[in-house]
Amino acid sequence: MGETSNLIQAGYILSAVLFVLGLKGLGKPRTAVRGNALGAAGMLMAVVVTLTDNKIVSFWQLGLGLVVGALIGGALATQVQMTGMPELVALFNGFGGLASVLVVGASFLEVRELPEDPSATFTLAAAATALIGAITFSGSVVAYGKLRESFGSFGFSSLRYVNGALMVVSLALGLLMLDMPKSVALIVALVALGFLLGVSSVVPIGGADMPVVIALLNSLSGLAASATGFALGNSLLIIAGSLVGASGLILTQIMCVAMNRTLSNVLFSAAPVAVEGADADETYVGKVTSTSADEVALLLENAERVAIVPGYGMAVAQAQHAVRDLAKALEANGTEVVFGIHPVAGRMPGHMNVLLAEAEIDYEKLIEMDVINSTFAQTDMTIVIGANDVVNPVARQENSPISGMPILDVDRSQTVVIIKRSLSPGFAGIPNPLFAADNALMLFGDGKEAVMAMTKALSELSNP
Ligand code: TAP
Repeated sequence: MGETSNLIQAGYILSAVLFVLGLKGLGKPRTAVRGNALGAAGMLMAVVVTLTDNKIVSFWQLGLGLVVGALIGGALATQVQMTGMPELVALFNGFGGLASVLVVGASFLEVRELPEDPSATFTLAAAATALIGAITFSGSVVAYGKLRESFGSFGFSSLRYVNGALMVVSLALGLLMLDMPKSVALIVALVALGFLLGVSSVVPIGGADMPVVIALLNSLSGLAASATGFALGNSLLIIAGSLVGASGLILTQIMCVAMNRTLSNVLFSAAPVAVEGADADETYVGKVTSTSADEVALLLENAERVAIVPGYGMAVAQAQHAVRDLAKALEANGTEVVFGIHPVAGRMPGHMNVLLAEAEIDYEKLIEMDVINSTFAQTDMTIVIGANDVVNPVARQENSPISGMPILDVDRSQTVVIIKRSLSPGFAGIPNPLFAADNALMLFGDGKEAVMAMTKALSELSNP
């Protein structure tokens, strides 16, 4: 018996070590694949050890759950478009929170049947899971809707006080559970308040702040799992949940720095600011110059340094392979090519890095915003592919929904070519004066087709 228990503890420790090593590996593109494999091995070990340790349910029930889960997960993973990944990640966060609520709920109902009262640790952990898990679920569902652009941001200026009051009531109910540890009404009320808080906290958050929200929800899903671990007395769940919680918090902090915002500002600032003077006609009419792939190729032929700035539209167009071919053609012509990466370009952290890595573009050529910004003035041409908000100079002004968000200073290059299908706005929904700048040329069309046309025109110039 003692030996089995030692083996189980050793298994748990090994899983935890694999998780930590996996996370470390995920920190760098070169080691990310190995990191992923180590994390998956840790998870497999955790599942096997937990199955051996706790005979909670029968193996056929677990097998059935595994098959159903694998089928749904497999179908989702194979069908989802690359552009739909952020929504999927948002849903996964939410389901993580919901799973914690369900597990702790089942455990609560079991403990309730026992003659003695549960321990204070169990009660507090169950209350925390109910609240945090429910906030994670409903907040993630709202984030999912916003990412799908099903609805925008709305709220009223005193909503933050309502949220504050809901939070205080939730904490009071959580403490009350210490006196009434078997009260179903209390735990149900906590779950309901959590659902409400998730919705009311995420709904008013402005579009440009969504990256911070997604990272925070990811962290909350980890905290909910960790609290479940305390309730069940499962050390591995505590460790794994804490790792997710902590890494999610670090990512939240990175996103806040990238957006030049504080977390409290994102979460507790008033309802979205109305955009003043941001009229599309006023910004564009009579000021936009459009160009063609042939014209751009002529300019590119003599360029010494070219920067390529990808955005969400590159993901939509799946243009990453075409972009790689253009970069190769330019380099063959003696032009230096770099890629400018904005930390929140696209719809999920690292979105552009993942796409460019898929096209096997060298990591060394991906230059972070802080570094590349000082070099735009010495860049002959910047090609913006499907990016909008992350290159919008309106961010430098006050009173815009993206005020203070650091941007890629592409307007400081000698010439900027912007590839997109129309003058329609990006995620933040505001016009972009860059498109009307004197040194800007608009190449209207689908990202992939436009880049392929440019590469073709360039090669025709090089090999007439
Ligand atoms: P956006 O501002 O969203 O602009 C993308 C542009 O791509 C659009 O203006 C669109 O213009 C163009 N586009 C769409 N399909 C295209 C196609 N097939 N070919 C060419 N262009 C196409 O993108 P961004 O500059 O990457 O900024 C990201 C935004 O998302 C930021 O506001 C950020 O805060 C937000 N956000 C980011 C995250 C994370 S974590 N990265 C999460 C949530 C939200 P047309 O329709 O005219 O083609």
